[in-house]
Amino acid sequence: MDDPRLDLDLSLPGAIPEEGVQRAIEVMRAGKLHRYGEDRTGVPEATALEQDYAAYIGKKFCTALNSCGASMFVALKCVGVGHGDKVLMNAFTLAPVPGAVEHAGAQPVFVEIDETYKIDLNDLDKKAASSGAKVLLLSHMRGHICDMEALMVIAKRHSLTVIEDCAHTMGAKWDGKFTGTFGAIGCFSLQSFKHANAGEGGLLVTDDPDIAAKGILYSGSYMLYAQHTARPGLEYFEKYRGRIPNFSLRMSNLTAAVGRPQIALLAERSAVWNDRYRRLADGLGRIQNIRIPLRSPKEQYVMSSIQFSVKGLSAAEMERFLEACAARGVFVKWFGRAEPVGFTSVHEHWEYVMEKQNLPQSERVLREVCDMRIPLALPLDSCDTIVAVMRHCLKNYAKPA
Ligand SMILES: Cc1ncc(COP(=O)(O)O)c(C=O)c1O
Repeated sequence: MDDPRLDLDLSLPGAIPEEGVQRAIEVMRAGKLHRYGEDRTGVPEATALEQDYAAYIGKKFCTALNSCGASMFVALKCVGVGHGDKVLMNAFTLAPVPGAVEHAGAQPVFVEIDETYKIDLNDLDKKAASSGAKVLLLSHMRGHICDMEALMVIAKRHSLTVIEDCAHTMGAKWDGKFTGTFGAIGCFSLQSFKHANAGEGGLLVTDDPDIAAKGILYSGSYMLYAQHTARPGLEYFEKYRGRIPNFSLRMSNLTAAVGRPQIALLAERSAVWNDRYRRLADGLGRIQNIRIPLRSPKEQYVMSSIQFSVKGLSAAEMERFLEACAARGVFVKWFGRAEPVGFTSVHEHWEYVMEKQNLPQSERVLREVCDMRIPLALPLDSCDTIVAVMRHCLKNYAKPA
């Protein structure tokens, strides 16, 4: 391709499946948008979504919240994180994750990442010993899943409670086991650019009845918690009601109606996304300045975006490369920018984090990391156009050492 150009908006999330549209219209016609009612009959959509998701992922309990950020905040509260506590987290993540830690009054302690963008397990081992943190909030950032068995061994050694941020791994597994089922709690997102699009929304899953009861109360159930069905016995609520504040972070029936039919589509969507990811990864990996991280065969990802490292370019050259791609219709995000832009930011930008972090390895890796959405509607041959655009825009740069 001499003059490659992409004529497609990569940020388009795609239409809501017709069943979701119809269910949302029914909810609106009935006016029962709030999940609870004092004399409610039938199963509200939020309750049905919790049941469906718990069954899908194979967990006993599921609570629907209004975002994954809210789910992570509630998850931290449920495991007892409070003012002044330290929470470990991988340095490759996005703003809602340290935001949830700050919301709980705690302080993030960032763990280094390696060349494959995953948490560095040696650094985790060291910081679990030195930081005093009792909790790890692990982001499976952009779908990159670390060796979960090895991670859980380290967590056990240090008595760390693991909360999994699965905003980018709905439907993904490590060695046949769903992400979000390794730690004490898994948190998922239904935000527009994730695997199921309900605009905003979060799901918290666990097998622990105390955590589940606390999570429902924190989410804002008033005294109507019995209306949940993916919940523990009422005796667990008796233990905590009155002692747990109502944070009003519930999901509405409208959100649930839009999101619920998409759970059954995850396997089909995953095949579409991964076909495109592999085609892009294969093409981009052949460009001399681009490195695609090696993936473990145990990592059963669902890649609704692609990440790659651009080697051998100065910051100014990177800016010019990204501008050249954008002029040809390919919008690429970059984790190495001095200033946060759009959805993308890194630990240096989170000024509210009081403790100075020393993360030379992560900073070096992130300076080269680029990120691009893969819309479900991307035709396979457009992947080749994207590769051609990047090759064209990189052709004048020297081969990296
Ligand atoms: C890594 C990561 N975790 C958590 C979240 C929070 O998800 P939500 O927007 O549902 O709060 C996001 C949002 O983009 C994210 O990128």
